[in-house]
Amino acid sequence: MHPNVEVLPSNGQVRALFASIRSSETSRRKFIFDSNRVITMLVEAALAKLPFREKTITTPLGLPYVGAEFVCDICGVPIVRAGESMEKALSNIIQDVRIGKILIQRDEETALPVLIYEKLPKDVANRHCLLLDPMLATGGSAMAAVKVLLDHGVKEEHIIFVNLISCPEGIGAFCSAFPKIRVVTGEIDDGLDERKYICPGIGDFGDRYFGTD
Ligand code: URA
Repeated sequence: MHPNVEVLPSNGQVRALFASIRSSETSRRKFIFDSNRVITMLVEAALAKLPFREKTITTPLGLPYVGAEFVCDICGVPIVRAGESMEKALSNIIQDVRIGKILIQRDEETALPVLIYEKLPKDVANRHCLLLDPMLATGGSAMAAVKVLLDHGVKEEHIIFVNLISCPEGIGAFCSAFPKIRVVTGEIDDGLDERKYICPGIGDFGDRYFGTD
């Protein structure tokens, strides 16, 4: 495993949630509900990686308490469309968080990822970015999205890529291309099939979440 990859600690609760969202028998309503719970855990794990500084406050008893506060500005960047399923969890945790968008599509002829649309905060270069996409399969879209962030001046070490399910092929390609980016993932699966679906996987995450299957 690459040193920059952190997997959500496995326990009964996490395994039950993954069993629910991976099952072909799970209703859309439950799929969304349980996916949102895992996404919240992943976003919290990613936020815990951001820089903090010590902060001392006074409690109602007039006593000092040494805690911490964020020292960086944050931006969430979902890769449209499936990554938008992760946006709400971030804005539920960080009030008024800035959200950019990147849309990458695969060119039918060349099979290469092409940038179709991007909109990022003007000061994105000074922010720590949480790149959001639920599935790290080949890594093609995520790598193209990272290039967009780097072109806008975001520092590689200020990007955290958050996803629910990844696989060795995607992790290998992504982490070799961007060795300073940290990856927070829910579970690492066995690999890709010939259609580039993650196995055992979850199916098409965007279709199941947005009800277009
Ligand atoms: N995207 C998905 O939604 N599922 C996969 O298995 C791979 C990419």
